[in-house]
Amino acid sequence: MPFDQMQQWLQKEKDLGSPNPYNIVLATATREGIPHSKIVAIKEIRADTILFFTQRETRKAKELQENPCASMTLWLPLQQREVIVDGKVEPLSQEENERYWQDMPHDRQLMFSVYSPLSGKAIDSIRELEDERLALEKKYKDKPIPITDFYCGFKFIPAYFYFYTLGNASFSEVIRYAQSHKTWEKQMLSP
Ligand SMILES: Cc1cc2nc3c(=O)[nH]c(=O)nc-3n(C[C@H](O)[C@H](O)[C@H](O)COP(=O)(O)O)c2cc1C
Repeated sequence: MPFDQMQQWLQKEKDLGSPNPYNIVLATATREGIPHSKIVAIKEIRADTILFFTQRETRKAKELQENPCASMTLWLPLQQREVIVDGKVEPLSQEENERYWQDMPHDRQLMFSVYSPLSGKAIDSIRELEDERLALEKKYKDKPIPITDFYCGFKFIPAYFYFYTLGNASFSEVIRYAQSHKTWEKQMLSP
């Protein structure tokens, strides 16, 4: 139910002309609860989880290891709609990481190989990254690029979904889905 609804709203946003509604806001927090939000790309929406990928050295990956609670917000401007998903994450297995790595185009793999070990660290200029990319390009010319130790995926396991439709002339509509005993309870909330 809520997963289908989310897919339908994303697909509608795409059909209306949005280039990539799958870039969403992800909020993570430290163990002490200090929050930090950022954009990530939804890689896949499965029957009961939502997948995204990152690098182990990023702040988000470190925060999610110490505090798996997270929240996603999708803003769909062409429909004036919002979806909020609250839940927890679990890391993907190394086997799954490998599978998604293999599906990535060669030049994306190269980019990841260059910046994954350095994610979030200070650099002097983009030139550093470009030189490294050229070196790797030579090294892996016509050869498969092995997965970096830093590439990692997470599955987001929702506990709540909020579907918000902004009413212009009328009231806004808010529908909440809460998970309870493996089923989804649907409720309308006052906006
Ligand atoms: C359109 C867009 C898509 C992005 N997608 C991702 C992504 O899928 N994974 C990721 O780790 N960072 C992605 N980023 C970069 C993050 O927003 C963020 O700046 C970076 O990962 C550092 O976040 P952190 O310090 O909270 O870990 C994207 C940025 C933009 C603008």
